[in-house]
Amino acid sequence: MTSAPIGIFDSGYGGLTVLKEIKALLPEYDYLYLGDNGRTPYGTRSFETVYSYTRECVKWLLDKGCNLVIVACNTASAKALRSIQQNDLPGWAPGKKILGVIRPTAEILGKKSRKGHIGILATPGTVSSGSYLIEIEKFSPGVQVTQQACPLWVPLIENGEYDEPGADYFVEKYCHELMEQDPGIDTVLLACTHYPLLENKIKNYLPRGVQVVSQGNLVAISLQDYLQRHPELETFCSKNGNLEIYTTDDPVNFDRQALNFLGYAINSRYVTV
Ligand code: DGL
Repeated sequence: MTSAPIGIFDSGYGGLTVLKEIKALLPEYDYLYLGDNGRTPYGTRSFETVYSYTRECVKWLLDKGCNLVIVACNTASAKALRSIQQNDLPGWAPGKKILGVIRPTAEILGKKSRKGHIGILATPGTVSSGSYLIEIEKFSPGVQVTQQACPLWVPLIENGEYDEPGADYFVEKYCHELMEQDPGIDTVLLACTHYPLLENKIKNYLPRGVQVVSQGNLVAISLQDYLQRHPELETFCSKNGNLEIYTTDDPVNFDRQALNFLGYAINSRYVTV
């Protein structure tokens, strides 16, 4: 293996909320981000489609040299990560690693709820996979987890409509449907890396006192811990503080939207995977 950037993948812009937190905590590393904006959203697609798209994108990052890839998309982590880790990676590059975002989030989430009632706001794909139910039960047995699918939120965000008054209708609808299922929820996870952009609106439509958790910071802390525990891989993560960003759709559009996610300007490049 030769030293290379850490790869970060999402179906579109969402993974930038994770990249932002990772870069803030671990600024010394190089990062290579790939957003599959040309085929987003993933959250409403079948297992087969999400697996096939994710597989292509992860392979592209590995072929670019990345030795460690973070799948910064809950839908792809839920529907494709395990298959890629078990079926594909050993044949592609056995020494390399692919990590997702569900496990590190689930590990900490259960401890954040005072009453043991957690709400999950996620894409239909993440909800139907049941991954959060399974993972939270492993780390915090007995915690009551309630899920709500929010199929319209990613399209609103990808199209830059998240701050507009029109978005309020669907934010209120899904928050209301979640709380109706379990009025005892005291902690809500934004279990889609796009959703932090709707956080202010989401807080408006959840009852006062309900804690809203974004996962970017949890994933960053978990990555830091992983790198400390795996010096054999960490040595092969290059450290010049560089960031390269690629998108499978229009880079001009990507740069305009990315400013809202990252808070600073970037220059992305177009790529086909
Ligand atoms: N950011 C992705 C996630 O965390 C959004 C999925 C989509 O493209 O619908 O699930």
